[in-house]
Amino acid sequence: MKVDVILGLQWGDEGKGKIVDVLSPAYDVIARFQGGPNAGHTIEFDGKKFILHTIPSGIFNPEKINVIGNGVIIDPFVFLKEIITLRLENVHPEKNLLISKKAHLILPSHRLLDAVYESDKGKAKIGSTLKGIGPTYTDKVGRLGIRVGDINASDFHQKYELLKQKHFKTIQSFNFDYQAIKIEGMEFAEYEKKWLDAVETLKNFEQIDSEIFINKCLKENKSILAEGAQGSLLDIDFGSYPFVTSSNTICAGVCSGLGIAPSKVGRVFGVFKAYCTRVGSGPFPTELDDEAGNKMRVTGHEFGSTTGRPRRCGWLDITALNHTVMLNGVTELVMMKADVLNAFENLNISMNYRFNNEIIDYIPFEDNKVKPVYKSVKGWNCEIDKVKKEEDFPPELNDYIRLIESETGVKITVVSLGPDRLQTIFR
Ligand code: GDP
Ligand code: IMO
Ligand code: MG
Repeated sequence: MKVDVILGLQWGDEGKGKIVDVLSPAYDVIARFQGGPNAGHTIEFDGKKFILHTIPSGIFNPEKINVIGNGVIIDPFVFLKEIITLRLENVHPEKNLLISKKAHLILPSHRLLDAVYESDKGKAKIGSTLKGIGPTYTDKVGRLGIRVGDINASDFHQKYELLKQKHFKTIQSFNFDYQAIKIEGMEFAEYEKKWLDAVETLKNFEQIDSEIFINKCLKENKSILAEGAQGSLLDIDFGSYPFVTSSNTICAGVCSGLGIAPSKVGRVFGVFKAYCTRVGSGPFPTELDDEAGNKMRVTGHEFGSTTGRPRRCGWLDITALNHTVMLNGVTELVMMKADVLNAFENLNISMNYRFNNEIIDYIPFEDNKVKPVYKSVKGWNCEIDKVKKEEDFPPELNDYIRLIESETGVKITVVSLGPDRLQTIFR
């Protein structure tokens, strides 16, 4: 057996959570491989809506095992909040959630650092979710971090204090009133206490050597689905640096984030919206600052699942899509939110970029200098939210799909026409 992968091809929020939930009945194990609570993955069924930040989106199938891999970073406080919300709905992750001992912990002082660094950047700020992502991955690479497996040791509190003191030295070196920073609406000391209590709760979950577990599952012919967070254009190496997140969001991240060999990667589902959105700063060639962009935002409820910030909206960008299809070795495409474009008479698609008076078909290093070259196509201009089968697609939607398939060379095997599980059409 191999590990199939679901990941985002744009700037995040493509609808990965919904698709993981929809496909998870076909898998034995669902595993997150990178990112942390900067993610917000939405799942809707039976009139209910859930937003997951750390817990894999397979958790609503009680017979499936969910794994938080070594590449993920965990904030025990945010994790506990998620657990409490799930319990209210009679979902009990204690039974089917395993956590890698090697996953790093986001400390309260990582979150302070994130806020201080962002504020210090002024106008050049990244637009971070301020969940402590950058500083935690920095400590991981700097070999300073604290991992889930460390919470069981008798010297955990000592380790925690040492790292916290290091962070405070840095924080105090900035000319910034850090004491005014609130974390989850609380002052540092209050939040820290709650965080330390949450660490105790974390001990109730089974901690594993996840790379051993995952590879054993593969040997036993169990099927595994890896769930990506963020999107490929936010990748630390290949995204629009520095306006990126701090992990490898592309398919390669599955290998380091779960401990599997590249030869063990199977199908790669690339999830993309029928248009584009981005939250936070950074280049966005097809961004619309007009009525059309506003229409997408309102119709698509394009407000961040984690921060509530309005998402920037724009037309579909084929050059960017081809770039991320290439980086990930996408074997099939999943198109989301076509229904949001219902009320457009015409749609634009950026086919190429203009850069230095040339037409190019890739994202160059100077990614903030490219201009989109549009093709206008006829929109379907009708309601498609209740369509149940491909045969009932309006011809313009079929044309839109065919155009994307011929430009990317990859088949669109799933089309999503609404947020609910049931609004999913397989082709
Ligand atoms: P993720 O981070 O990739 O899991 O995506 P998010 O959950 O942050 O954002 C996707 C949003 O679109 C959520 O509010 C979903 O409920 C919603 N959604 C997903 N698929 C569709 C769809 O096909 N149509 C519409 N209208 N909404 C969708
Ligand atoms: P999901 O998994 C959309 C963006 C932030 C910011 C940049 C860096 O729900 O698709 P960070 O908090 O990592 O320091 O922020 O990345 N970002 C996301 N945008 N969806 C996400 O996750 C994101 N996670 C981070 O807005 O621009
Ligand atoms: Mg999201």
